[in-house]
Amino acid sequence: MNVPGTYTQAWESFWQDAPPASGAVFWDADASLTAALQIPLFEPYFDAGLPVVDFGCGNGTQTRYLAERYDRVVGVDLSEAAIALARQADPNGVAEYQQLNGADVAMARRLHAETGDANVYMRGVLHQCEPADRQPLIEGIAILLGERGRVFAVELSAAAKGVLLGLAQGPGGPPPKLGAVFAHGLTPGEVADEAVPGFFAAAGLALLAGGELPLTTAEFRPDGTRIELPSKWLVAGGAAQAPPGSIEV
Ligand SMILES: C[S@@+](CC[C@H](N)C(=O)[O-])C[C@H]1O[C@@H](n2cnc3c(N)ncnc32)[C@H](O)[C@@H]1O
Repeated sequence: MNVPGTYTQAWESFWQDAPPASGAVFWDADASLTAALQIPLFEPYFDAGLPVVDFGCGNGTQTRYLAERYDRVVGVDLSEAAIALARQADPNGVAEYQQLNGADVAMARRLHAETGDANVYMRGVLHQCEPADRQPLIEGIAILLGERGRVFAVELSAAAKGVLLGLAQGPGGPPPKLGAVFAHGLTPGEVADEAVPGFFAAAGLALLAGGELPLTTAEFRPDGTRIELPSKWLVAGGAAQAPPGSIEV
């Protein structure tokens, strides 16, 4: 099923044109440089007995890595083409995949009915969805968490936009993998830093931990250095799970 909306179309065409090779997409860094470094941040907060939903899983690189650590991992994405790539890259079916608009709370309820309370992993999705969908997307996550689940989210910080613009305005134009993102009308790095924890709080989720960790990409500068983008991460859960006091992220 396709969902109307500019971003939906942009994502569908992006993933239809994306090469299936690992690392061919701008942010598709190997999991050893991404999820492997993030797991120590969220593992203490996740109940390991719960399924993990990789929310906005793209081509499933991080999903497959999470499936090495957790018994049941479900990758969901707005784009049918992304889900097709994720399935193609996982011939042994270590994870499950579903096309789903995370901002559609009815879909989130249906998934929750299937998985029960789940932990959610989300890398670089909130800043890359339809702006009006940002709050409903976090409401959808709150539904999936239920009473026991927790969410780990990592999003570009506002400072990333300057890095991306600098790369786009370089003498040779944007590096090719970043150029493909812009060519499909996607505009990364548009969410204000302070807005992100606000979406979680408004969905009734309490912030449990947070910090900064660069988002590693699969793209390189002309001098051969890998591009990393300023990012912030947080862990949140149902307000009933919150420790006394609140934290700043
Ligand atoms: C920047 S990519 C990140 C992909 C993956 N998380 C990773 O780190 O490799 C953002 C992904 O979010 C997906 N997305 C955007 N809006 C969504 C929504 N409302 N529901 C589900 N997925 C969405 C896009 O289709 C895209 O695959």
